[in-house]
Amino acid sequence: MTYIRIKGGKRICGEVTLQGSKNAVLPMIAASILIRGVTVIENCPDITDVREMLMQLQQTGARYTFYDHVLVIDCSEVFLYDGEKKEASKTRGSVLFLGAFLGRFSEARISYPGGCVIGSRPIDLHCELLRSLGVTISEQEDALYACGRPAGAELFLRSPSVGATENAILAAVCAKGRTVLHGAATEPEVSELCSFLVEAGAKISGIGTNILAIDGVESLHEVCHLLTGDRIVAGTFLCAAMVTGGQITIHGTKGVSLTGFDRTLRRVGLYCEQKENCILATGIGKLFPVDLLVTAPYPGFPTDMQSLLMAVLALADGESRLCETVFESRFKIVPELNLMGAAIEVRDRMAVIHGVPVLTGATVMAKELRGGAALLLAGLAAMGETRVYGCENIARGYEAICERLCSLGAEIDQMEEA
Ligand code: UD1
Repeated sequence: MTYIRIKGGKRICGEVTLQGSKNAVLPMIAASILIRGVTVIENCPDITDVREMLMQLQQTGARYTFYDHVLVIDCSEVFLYDGEKKEASKTRGSVLFLGAFLGRFSEARISYPGGCVIGSRPIDLHCELLRSLGVTISEQEDALYACGRPAGAELFLRSPSVGATENAILAAVCAKGRTVLHGAATEPEVSELCSFLVEAGAKISGIGTNILAIDGVESLHEVCHLLTGDRIVAGTFLCAAMVTGGQITIHGTKGVSLTGFDRTLRRVGLYCEQKENCILATGIGKLFPVDLLVTAPYPGFPTDMQSLLMAVLALADGESRLCETVFESRFKIVPELNLMGAAIEVRDRMAVIHGVPVLTGATVMAKELRGGAALLLAGLAAMGETRVYGCENIARGYEAICERLCSLGAEIDQMEEA
C-alpha cells in the first residue's frame, strides 16, 4: 500500500510552478467530442482524473497523445459507446460526456458518475436542463440514457451547479437555435470552458455572468488552448506557506482567480501579492481565527478551499467556525485532524475549530481529494512524522505534490508498504 510520509516542522521556501486547472480541463476533454478534428490543450495537468476522462474518451474511438503537459485529442472519427459502469463511476467529470455526446450524436448513455465521497451529489439539475433542451432522458439500472437533438430554449437553473451549467453549455453549443441559461454558475472554470468553446467557433455571450446566451452553430473547429493554472492548488501552496511560516513564489498564475479566498487567507495570516504571472506569498508566522466563514458558489468562499483552511485554522490562536453549505459531507477530515491533536467539533453543517498551538504527527487517511491535501498541510506543520494513506485520492487532483513540496524544502515522500 502507498502512503505519504511527512517529517513536519520544516519552513517551506522557494519557487514552484502551478499545474493547470483540473476543473477547467475535465469539461474541455468532454467538449473535444464536439470538435471534428484536433483539440490541443497546453499546460494540462497529469493527474488521475484527467487520465480517467481520457480512458473514457478513448472508448469512443478518439485518439490522443499526452506528453509534457500537452494533450492532443483527435475526435475526427468517433462513435457512441455504452458508458461502461466501471470506468465512468470513478470521476465526477464523466457526467459531462452527457451533454457532449448529445451535441455530437443526439444520443448518450452514461453510468452514474463518481468523484469524491463528499455528499449525495445528485444530477437532477443536469437532467432538468437537458430535458428543457428537448432531450428525452430515461434511467436504466445504474445508467442514464438520453436521446434527441438538443434544441435551443430558455433555461432556468434553480441552483448554480457547476456541472449542470457545463452540461447545458455542451449540449447547447451545437443545438438548433438559441439557448439562454439563467442562473448559470459563474466559477472561473465555467468561463474558461466557454472561452475554449468560443475559440473553437461557438457563439456564447454573457461569459462570466449568470446569464449565458448560446447561439447554436453547425460544428466546431480545431482549437489550441492554453489552460489556466489551478486556483485551488495555488490556494493549497498558499496554505502551506501559512502553516509553516514559509515564503514562496508560485509561477504560472496568469489569469488565476483567488477571488473568494485571498482576503480570508490574508486575514488569517498571509502576506500575498499577485503579479502578472506569479504570486509572492509569505506566512506571517502567526495565525488568527475567523469568526464565521460560510462556503458559497463563486464569488463566495469556495467549498474546495474549506478543508484546506480548516487545517490552517486548527493552528490559529482562538476559535473559528466554518459552515459548509455546498457539500454536506465535507467534514470527513475532522476525525483525522483530531488524531493529530486538533480540537474540532462538528455540529451539523458547522465545524467549530478550537485552535491549538501544535499538531503532532499521526497515521491518517485521505478519504477524498481536498481533505487529503489538507492532511498534507497538517503534516507539514506537525511535530514528528505523519503518514497519510489514501494517496490515490490526492493524485486525482494534484500532480507530483510530494516532489513539488520537496522542492520547497519540505521533508515529504511517497512510500510503498510491503
Ligand atoms: C464542481 C467541481 C468541484 C466543486 C464544485 C462546487 C468539477 C469536476 N468539480 O463539482 O470541485 O467543489 O463544483 O464548486 O468541476 N447538485 C444537485 N443536483 C445536481 C447537481 C448538483 O443537487 O444535479 C448540488 C450538489 O449536490 C451540491 C451543489 O449542487 O450540493 C453544487 O454542486 P455542483 O456545483 O454541481 O458541483 P460539481 O459540478 O459536482
